Amino acid sequence: MTEKTRVAVLGAAGRMGATTCAAIEAAADLDLVARVDVGDDVGTAVRDSGAQVAVDFTVPSVTEANVHAVLDAGAHAVVGATGWTDESLARVSEHVDRLNAGGAGLGVVVAPNFGLSAVLAMQFAAKAAAYFESAEVIELHHPNKVDAPSGTARHTATAIAAARRDAGLPAMPDATAEGWDARGADVDGVRVHAVRLRGLVAHEEVLLGNPGEQLVIRQDSFDRVSFMPGVLLAVRQVATRPGLTVGLEHLLDLG
Ligand SMILES: NC(=O)c1ccc[n+]([C@@H]2O[C@H](COP(=O)([O-])OP(=O)(O)OC[C@H]3O[C@@H](n4cnc5c(N)ncnc54)[C@H](O)[C@@H]3O)[C@@H](O)[C@H]2O)c1
Repeated sequence: MTEKTRVAVLGAAGRMGATTCAAIEAAADLDLVARVDVGDDVGTAVRDSGAQVAVDFTVPSVTEANVHAVLDAGAHAVVGATGWTDESLARVSEHVDRLNAGGAGLGVVVAPNFGLSAVLAMQFAAKAAAYFESAEVIELHHPNKVDAPSGTARHTATAIAAARRDAGLPAMPDATAEGWDARGADVDGVRVHAVRLRGLVAHEEVLLGNPGEQLVIRQDSFDRVSFMPGVLLAVRQVATRPGLTVGLEHLLDLG
């Protein structure tokens, strides 16, 4: 039998961490060797447990330090915690490249969204955007969400805008002369609308329009278990991707 990959979970007592621990325990090819949370030393826990991969679902204030500690302990890192900036990503990239120059062969995957349906919706929307005159994004979330529009909706709009630019498309048709408040946020020239409604979890719709036709791409996340296929995919692939990878889409074979 092939040896199981040994995995540590950082933030194991949290909502995402606990769900990740359960998913790893249920996977036949993975072995949960450490549950790490506040008060534990990350480097020591990873080293002592012999973990080959550490999954970080902690909090924005500590996730970067955790990744440096994981790398220094000789393990790969899969990161779901948010709060990453261009600067913190650059520091991790420099660190892992330096270790790899010495032959470490380590990988780091940082994914702002591990939801396969959300990532695929974003990719499909970007691919379709070049063929439509109009595109708008509607994101719908539970009313406890504090930021609007969502990061995923912003990324989707930015990807649509880039695809339109690459295709040489002009600005979208829009005769609005007043009442701009009702037209949503302008993200890179793409209108993004945010709905907050009791009962919802996390949902996104991309509307693409041409004369006489419409394409709607919709994704719905109902539960945090929806992130687990993406997390497990990254755990299984991270060792084959030395250096830093940002975004789950790079791990998917989208042609
Ligand atoms: N990438 C994705 O797809 C995705 C999906 C959902 C949530 N998230 C992000 O994941 C993170 C965790 O979300 P959550 O809902 O599970 O939060 P949570 O508050 O339930 O859990 C965070 C856990 O991290 C622990 N922690 C804090 N500091 C630590 C440290 N120094 N070392 C070890 N553990 C530490 C806390 O004690 C807690 O158990 C957030 O940043 C959230 O935005 C990402």
